[in-house]
Parts: sequence; structure tokens; C-alpha cells
Amino acid sequence: MNDYFHYQNDAFYVGQVPLADIAEKFGTPCYVYSRAALTDGFRQFADALQGREHLICYAVKANSNLAILNIFARLGAGFDIVSGGELQRVLAAGCDARKVVFSGVGKTAEEMRMALDADILCFNVESAAELDRLNEVAASMCKVAAISLRVNPDVDAKTHPYISTGLKQNKFGVAYTEAIALYRKARGLNNLRITGMDCHIGSQLTETSPFIAAIEKILVLVDALAGEGIHLEHLDLGGGLGIRYKDETPPAIGDYVAALLTALRGRSQKLILEPGRVLVGNAGILLTRVEYLKHGEEKNFAIVDAAMNDLMRPALYDAYHNILPVKRETDTAHLPRGGDRAIEKSNTSSYEIVGPICETGDFIGHARDLSIAPQSLLAVLSAGAYGMSMSSNYNTRPRAAEVIVDGGAVHLVRERETVAQLYAGEKIIS
Ligand code: LLP
Repeated sequence: MNDYFHYQNDAFYVGQVPLADIAEKFGTPCYVYSRAALTDGFRQFADALQGREHLICYAVKANSNLAILNIFARLGAGFDIVSGGELQRVLAAGCDARKVVFSGVGKTAEEMRMALDADILCFNVESAAELDRLNEVAASMCKVAAISLRVNPDVDAKTHPYISTGLKQNKFGVAYTEAIALYRKARGLNNLRITGMDCHIGSQLTETSPFIAAIEKILVLVDALAGEGIHLEHLDLGGGLGIRYKDETPPAIGDYVAALLTALRGRSQKLILEPGRVLVGNAGILLTRVEYLKHGEEKNFAIVDAAMNDLMRPALYDAYHNILPVKRETDTAHLPRGGDRAIEKSNTSSYEIVGPICETGDFIGHARDLSIAPQSLLAVLSAGAYGMSMSSNYNTRPRAAEVIVDGGAVHLVRERETVAQLYAGEKIIS
């Protein structure tokens, strides 16, 4: 819970709107985002970076809804993309391609062409072979591609192994020890122009020290390149700042940026950051309805209408998302007079919150103490990042609707999919 999602008289609100009204109007499961939260996060970055040449490139993969991209674009954001599809989204949302950086280990020639055609700001190149391919594609279009090399600094991000990217054994970036040689190679390729250096060490980091360790290693390379006459215009430090899902205590955006700026003191390069999760994670929730309660011999199950296809993080990473009732049943009778601390009614039970999908891994949360009944609405918190963007149609489940609350106004920003859309491209053979 935060300033944007809160209880008012035991009803859960987003901004000025009760979540129950949203469920009534748009159905469930439904992702609900707060525009104020989206905007405030971005502003915290912009404020902390004031006075320094910078570009905040929102990592589109965290949540790629066009309305969200457009909100950030209007605040001045650039974008970090990892596919031609994300480039098309960014353009469709009315964003400026000249503020786009293109990351990813497997860019196809076609994706490179699209990005060159759109005149993006920079390709974050992740291998020697990619340098050659990009040079060829750019030559065939009589263009020059601006590049930075994504250097793998070999630091431990101390996060979940699936989302740790800056270690030697990871597939990302070019090896630290090979970076200088690859910059020399890039300098010799006519259709490339070296503009920067990039690193991204992982996601959901809750301490600043790994970021600082990465910067220190990167700066050694920056100086070595300068000694060879290769002067960089920008440093891209990637994304990765974590959020609170349960009891994590990540640094505030302002403190994180201040720590980066301290580590970069005396450096004049433009600073690019690629935040994803921290801008959208706690700006969204997943609204779901209890279908059945099932009291097993060992466990109680609340079977809800959202599933692993809607929110994959629990199944994939064993990730924790707080789950709260949309209507809080409280018993204030025993509170001292004037006491405003509501306590859950004693008919609370411990539930496994699971979806209808035919997999044991289909769960949203384990052992949650809730006072609920069939048809109760639940809010799955911190679902704005890597929720909808990782959703699938497994079990032929149409993807959820998405809604943005802006003060008292509610906007449907993605309609619920229909089953007909899901098999529209399929053919029966004779
Ligand atoms: N830049 C690059 C090159 C990235 O690969 C990523 C995330 C970001 C920026 C943004 O990182 P963020 O600020 O969001 O931490 N699906 C996982 C997270 C995967 C992150 C992948 N890369 C999850 O649900 O936790």
C-alpha cells in the first residue's frame, strides 16, 4: 500500500476511485494503474538529475501499454527497447525515436533496419558479431549507427539468479576484459559511430553498492578508451532499482541517483538510465475475484479468476506479491474509544491463493491470512511491472483489461481480449 492505493472506510481505493467500482464496470481480472504514481516516480528521477545532462529511458518491457508509454513520453522520457515490436509500440504511442536506446543480445537484421530507419539514439551492442552485423546493415542503408557497448562488469547484483545479468556467466554484454579490443574494432568499422558505454547488472536490486561497484569498473574502461582517443558522449547505467514487495528496503529514487552521481563526480558525459520496475511496479495492482473457497485436508484454497497467465512472477520466480481484500471486514468494537487502527475480523483463515490453470505452479500467493467469501474481490499489489507485459494466453485465457485511474477519472487503456481474437490467425487443414 502506498499513497495511491489506500483504504477509505474499509474500501480499497485507487486515487479517488473505489476498486469495487472498477471491478463492476470492467470485470476481473483487471490491471489498475495510478497515473499519479506513474508521474511521481518519473518526476523523482527528473528532480534528482536536475542540473546534469541526462535521459531517463523507461524500460518498455516492464509495462508496454501505449497509454503508459505516452504518459512517460509527455514527461520527457526516452525509452529502452529490446525488440522491433517494442520499437513499434514506442512509435505508436507517439514517442520520439531519437530518445530510444536498443538493448538485447539477439537483434535481427530486420530489427536493426527498423531502428536505423527510425533514427534511434543508440544501439547497445552486446557482442562482436553484433558489431559486424550492425555495420553491414547500416552500410546497406547508407547510414551510420550510433553505438555503445554493453559491458558486463562482473559484479554480483545480489538478486534472484534469473534476473541477475552482470556476472561473467550471464549471456549479457561483452566481457569486461574484451571491451577495449571491441571498441578498437568498432572504431575501424565505417558505418558505426561510438557514442557511449552501457551496463545493466540486474533487476530488483535493493542496495546501491553493486551499482557503484559497476560504475567504478566501467570508469576504468572509459579512461583507458580516452587514452586511445576514444571519447564517449554518454554513460548508460541501465535500470535495476528495486521496489518494496514485502519487506525489502530499497533506496529511494533520489538517494539512488545521488549515489550514482557521487560515483560519477568529475565526469561530464551525459547520463542515461533505464529504469523499468521502479517506475511502474508499485503504480499498479491486479484486481481479481474469488470464485470458490475450497477447504482441503491440509490447506484452504481461494480459487480466484486471475492466474499464472495473468501474473507469472509467483510461478516463475516464487515472487511475493501482497494480497489485500478490496472490502476490509474490520471489527472495531474492541478498540479503545477513538482508536482508528482497524483489525481484521477473527474469521480470518490462511489461504493458498490460486488460479484456475491446470498446473500446481499456478499460484498468486501462499498462506495468506484473509477474511473472504466467494465473490470477494482481492487486490494483488505491486503488479504494475512485469505483470501484464509477461502475461500469456495459456489455457486459452484472454488477457486481462487494463485501466488507468487519473484522479477521479477511470480510463480503459486496454480492452479485455476476446477468445475469438486468440484463434483469429489459426487455420484448420483439409
Ligand atoms: N535495461 C535492460 C537492458 C534490462 O534488461 C532491464 C530489465 C532493464 C533495463 C530494466 O530493469 P528494471 O529497472 O525493471 O529492474 N521479469 C523480471 C524482471 C526482468 C528484468 C529484465 N531486464 C521480473 O518480473 O522480476
